[in-house]
Amino acid sequence: GVAFMDGQYLPMSEAKISVLDWGFLHSDATYDTVHVWNGRFFRLNLHLDRFLGGIERLRMNLPYDREEITSILKSCVALSGHKSAYVEMICTRGSSPTFSRDPRQAENRFMAFAVPFGSVANNEQLERGLHVAISETVRIPPKSIDPSIKNYHWLDLVKGLFDAYDMGAETALILDTDGHIAEGPGFNVFIVRDGSLTTPAFGVLPGITRRTVFDLCAEIGLSVAATDVSRAEIKQADEVFVTSTAGGIMPVTRIDEAKIANGKVGPITSRLMNFYWQKHD
Ligand code: PDD
Repeated sequence: GVAFMDGQYLPMSEAKISVLDWGFLHSDATYDTVHVWNGRFFRLNLHLDRFLGGIERLRMNLPYDREEITSILKSCVALSGHKSAYVEMICTRGSSPTFSRDPRQAENRFMAFAVPFGSVANNEQLERGLHVAISETVRIPPKSIDPSIKNYHWLDLVKGLFDAYDMGAETALILDTDGHIAEGPGFNVFIVRDGSLTTPAFGVLPGITRRTVFDLCAEIGLSVAATDVSRAEIKQADEVFVTSTAGGIMPVTRIDEAKIANGKVGPITSRLMNFYWQKHD
């Protein structure tokens, strides 16, 4: 892979930040990831909107504008030589030259990198569906951190993952402050019931893949609602799938100890998965 840092393109092994950067010390950073498929960026503008929106809400300043960021990302991909890549752009608070504790004194930093694409789920898991456990862990309350800012606050999601491994599952879903299903480590979730889709509305990252599912549903005439999803509803669903840039649409066929419906990847999930990958070509 290739990184861009402090005005230079570097091999990934040389891309290093200071331990004094508030991005590292305090998770004071935002980022976005975008997928390059056959040499083309998938929905780059939506990722840039979310990234630049987060930077503004965190009151950071970047020395690069949207066009410059676009050209940096494209250069990282071109220099990496990868046809399919996972591209990450990051803005951290940086640090203050005088070690001030006032975040307004910090010099914000932008960096980016392109590495080979790696999915959340492997091919075998995509065929049989993921085994997910519901952890009692609660995702960051929305009034604490604006969920529309893509953040590195993952202590809750990582705890959820360890809970899931302890329960013999492959990945986790964690809860919102009301005890409803929120999201997982790097993905949103959908349930299908009687041909209609539902996805959690509050306290989750508004994922670009989630939004792509809304667009696909509009095109093929499926109804989709963003509203609360309870633990009982997800277990009684006909189909469940999760969505992420790193993997697209990924089926879930088992939650905790129970199979979802007959334990096979459902027809609406398969149809959306095919449609999603057609959009990439
Ligand atoms: N993760 N929720 C969280 C907490 C995420 O970190 C992500 C993205 C998503 C899905 O959003 P999108 O569809 O825009 O990728 C939901 C990225 C891919 C990551 O883990 O690097």
